[in-house]
Amino acid sequence: MFDALKMAPQDAILGLMEAYGQDPNPEKINLSVGVYKDDQGQTPILDVVREAQQRVLQEESSKVYLAITGLPEYGAAVQRLMFGPDHEIIAKRRATTAHTPGGTGALRVAGDFLKSQFPGASIWLSNPTWPNHPSVFAAAGVQTKTYPYFNAQDNSLALDEMLDTLRSAPYGDVVLLHACCQNPTGIDPTLDEWKQIADVISNRGLVPMVDFAYQGFAEGVDEDAAGLRTLCQNSKEVIICSSFSKSFGLYRERVGALTIVCSSSGAAERTQSHIKRTIRTNYSTPPAYGGAVVTTVLNDEQLTARWMGEVAQMRDRINSMRSLLVERLAAAGVDRDFAFIKEQRGMFSFTGLTPEQTDALRENDSIYIVRSGRINIAGVTEANVGRLTEAIARVL
Ligand code: LMR
Repeated sequence: MFDALKMAPQDAILGLMEAYGQDPNPEKINLSVGVYKDDQGQTPILDVVREAQQRVLQEESSKVYLAITGLPEYGAAVQRLMFGPDHEIIAKRRATTAHTPGGTGALRVAGDFLKSQFPGASIWLSNPTWPNHPSVFAAAGVQTKTYPYFNAQDNSLALDEMLDTLRSAPYGDVVLLHACCQNPTGIDPTLDEWKQIADVISNRGLVPMVDFAYQGFAEGVDEDAAGLRTLCQNSKEVIICSSFSKSFGLYRERVGALTIVCSSSGAAERTQSHIKRTIRTNYSTPPAYGGAVVTTVLNDEQLTARWMGEVAQMRDRINSMRSLLVERLAAAGVDRDFAFIKEQRGMFSFTGLTPEQTDALRENDSIYIVRSGRINIAGVTEANVGRLTEAIARVL
């Protein structure tokens, strides 16, 4: 049976991570997968996470299964972080949260839930989006469509085209939006633009689905929830897929959450019953460890303040690398204006490099960039920026 199998295509992002690992060049540079790196090129464990880990290990008394939706304290902490502690969604118990293995797990459970309960609904994805979005929903059997998001000419949000397309989407369809630090473009709507998007979505009877993977990487932990909170003002029903991979540096622990906001606590309870069935037939119950670490931090005021400080440090380093990269590209003799890199937010920049140029950078210089031209700015360091910008100047 298996002898007849042909090779499956490599993953657009994780495939590059594997290729980078196998590259013997000591000067190789990895700007592909979205993981934070410090100025030594390392992905550190946050100090606050180290402390929370010790507490978790000391206090842990059993390895018995968690509930299907995970620790209730985790769900409550996730909701406070997204909505703010005093939000009426929390007071009225209108939302149900399940701990999922990473943000990808949340997307897949959401896809399976939609397919089983709303088989006619399509999910609208931004063009461009994270390459795994269409694959996850295809695996769940949910149809996807795309709406314009990005103007390549001037590196801006294609708001008018986006809204025009969404105005034609059928009632009951789902619209996936990135809460902040849009992956891959790094271009987010302003608050006023969020209001316009929220109006079209609610007037049209569409359901917003928010992928929230970079909270704290744009402006701040609270500030970055502004788009989501705007959507929640207009729409009574919202689906949110959160990830703590980046904001807590817990990538391999797979800590995410699926939250479904409903119009009443009764609807939330009924929705939860379906989410539980979906999870039970997939991975049964979530892994405990990473969720316990996040809960420990978010349930302690001092640890939360320290965590926000560490997120700010990561954000500040990325922003300083944006400026350095633009400066050094100019110094390397590149005449294209790359100033837009400083305006983009979060870990990524959409550089406009072509797939062929990224291939050349990989083959000639061991510089790994996603073929869409997206670079992980966190992979830039004082030590590698010279080699990087000279190589980019050569391919341009
Ligand atoms: C990325 O876009 O690089 C990250 O979200 C990591 C991943 O799983 O692709």
